[in-house]
Amino acid sequence: MFLRICFLLALLAVVNRARAAQPAGEPVKLGFFMSITGRDASFGEAALRGARLAVDDLNATGGILGRPVELVVEDNRSVSGESATAAKKLLSRDKVVALIGECASARTLEAAPIAQAAGIPLVTPASTNPKVTAVGDCIFRVCFADPFQGTVLASYAWKNLGLRRAALLIDSTAPYSVGLAEVFAKTFLALGGDIVAAQKYSGDAKDFRAQLTAIRSTKADTIFLPGYYVAAGLVAQQARELGLRATLVGGDGFEAPQLLEIGGPALEGTVYSTHYSAESKDPASRRFVSAYQARHGSTPVGLAALTYDSVQLIADAARRAGTTERVALKKALAATRDFPGITGRTTLNEHRDAIKDAAIITVRGGQCVFVDSVRP
Ligand code: PHE
Repeated sequence: MFLRICFLLALLAVVNRARAAQPAGEPVKLGFFMSITGRDASFGEAALRGARLAVDDLNATGGILGRPVELVVEDNRSVSGESATAAKKLLSRDKVVALIGECASARTLEAAPIAQAAGIPLVTPASTNPKVTAVGDCIFRVCFADPFQGTVLASYAWKNLGLRRAALLIDSTAPYSVGLAEVFAKTFLALGGDIVAAQKYSGDAKDFRAQLTAIRSTKADTIFLPGYYVAAGLVAQQARELGLRATLVGGDGFEAPQLLEIGGPALEGTVYSTHYSAESKDPASRRFVSAYQARHGSTPVGLAALTYDSVQLIADAARRAGTTERVALKKALAATRDFPGITGRTTLNEHRDAIKDAAIITVRGGQCVFVDSVRP
């Protein structure tokens, strides 16, 4: 009799575990909008891979509150205006419980007021401009913001690289670029450095020769380019062509597998900051890196890890709230403390921003090499 009861209990445990592993019922829909095609396609690809890995992991372990998770994907084609359209579609057509996106601050800034007006939480994996989370209490970010990133870069340029004369090359159409340049310049000046030029370009530019020629005459030892990987690769090449020897310094927008393809050897010595290093020894990060490698045959960039964490953060908040209802979900997200993720522990402060380390990367021997980690 006793044995039979034990057997039944064991059977029940097995059945229960199987049930937990097989979420059932109406799916919980998460809306995802990114630049999957177009100029910044590398960002969309990395983010989507991270999001899909997270959704698969969730669905293998009971989903969200026992329900399966569905990622509803919208491509904004890297075109301005399309993120607002995507956000509206995901909210009204798909009735998603949360939005994940964008990477570029300009595009998150399009969608954020729409999410805020609907009262639906939006989690950005990688938009670093301070204005993003300032839109309202429904907007969250799992990465550091540019007041930190800009300071880190200016200090690194000054102290570690010994640079003294910086020329700024700013995408005047991108809030990310304008904001990061401001913080960099302020810090660099305060340290005693000179800002010898401030040149402008606009997002889709392919030819930077006029700006670089002007910069050449200033004897700058630094080109600070708060832009994305396509611009970074082209600027590196054209600067080399024009005989400029200044060190190219940038932010997280440089990080993409395509950076090296576009810029080639001209990038040697370039320095930029990012959110994560796949070389991290943390067990969760190691598991993520091997799952990513098994699926895609390459090493994940920080954006993939941050997007993985964004999805898991929403699931964690829903679990704590016991519901995906918007007000409760928003409250639980705001209360996120010490959430263990791939990119470290996430604690959201009163501005709904995460405080995280920056990784410094340098291009050496045709590779992007992790050189340092900077604490807030
Ligand atoms: N931080 C950049 C922005 O706010 C976007 C970005 C993040 C790009 C991470 C690449 C990697 O616009």
